[in-house]
Amino acid sequence: MREKVAVIGAGFVGTMTAQRIAEKNLADVVLVDIIEGVPQGKALDMNHAASLVEMEAAVQGTNDFAEIRDSRVVVVTAGFPRMPGMSREELAAKNGKIIQSVVSRVREFAPECVLLIVTNPLDIMAYTAWKLSGFPARRVLGMGGVLDTARYEFLLARELGVSVRDIDALVIGSHGDTMIPLVEYSRARGVPIKSLLPEDRIEKILERTKNSGAEIVGLLKTGSAFHAPSASAAAMVEAVLKDSGRLLAASVLLEGQYGIRDVFIGAPIRLGADGVESIYEIVLSAAELQAYRDSAAAIRQFLDKISAS
Ligand code: APR
Repeated sequence: MREKVAVIGAGFVGTMTAQRIAEKNLADVVLVDIIEGVPQGKALDMNHAASLVEMEAAVQGTNDFAEIRDSRVVVVTAGFPRMPGMSREELAAKNGKIIQSVVSRVREFAPECVLLIVTNPLDIMAYTAWKLSGFPARRVLGMGGVLDTARYEFLLARELGVSVRDIDALVIGSHGDTMIPLVEYSRARGVPIKSLLPEDRIEKILERTKNSGAEIVGLLKTGSAFHAPSASAAAMVEAVLKDSGRLLAASVLLEGQYGIRDVFIGAPIRLGADGVESIYEIVLSAAELQAYRDSAAAIRQFLDKISAS
């Protein structure tokens, strides 16, 4: 039997994620949305390109959640993108309701899946989804660190004028302003970036990495990023389907690691067929560890605030 992946939300991120998975022939894709005709139309459009892009996987568009049955991975992109001027609280309230309704259907029809949350605010939505799903924590994770790392690596490569393939880095912490690009672990073909770039240039790259999402929202004005987010989600889906044991950063439940507990936050993990197979406790500088704990405290505060309202 061919593998099956469900993508919930046939907007910009969901459609592009479905397309990337199908074009790589990773799995058949079921694309679900509440708007009648939209997932069906987009799926048909993607299928029409099959012979041109050597796509053997099938994409099915539907409004019926029962079709996600037996999906190995369910990627949730349903929800509103961040708009200029919209507060994080407003976004969390709106998208929290959507996550609630989507997760109840996932529980019903794909109770054994690995649940990958893409909807923002990411760490908050991933935590909400985990709580509502009743799934073991290893089967719920959020797509944040892969995207933040990719953006950081792109900016480093451009600054250094080297191929992005030679850059190797990691970004942990919240998928937001308090993310932590790990400078000590950032290298270009093994050479620490600190020996290649002056401190002020590194500092500028760190700032731009943290603001990348907002930078795109500011440019697009009517939506948020979807090319790099969908590439990140598809890479994570591939790691699960192929059981490749990728070491990457993802939003996962910490239960005491780094002195942090009961939040979803970006951490270095091993991703495989069962989902989160290990959470690595890597050595951080005192400043990074403090920043990490502060990032977690900000997420916890936000969770407390929205659960009280
Ligand atoms: N079930 C299924 N689909 C839903 C539901 C639901 N309950 N509620 C909303 N949707 C669908 C919408 O109909 C829409 O087609 O989710 C889709 C969202 O698409 P866009 O508005 O294009 O948003 P997009 O840019 O794809 O971003 C989606 O991903 O990266 C994050 O911040 C981003 O939270 C946002 C999410």
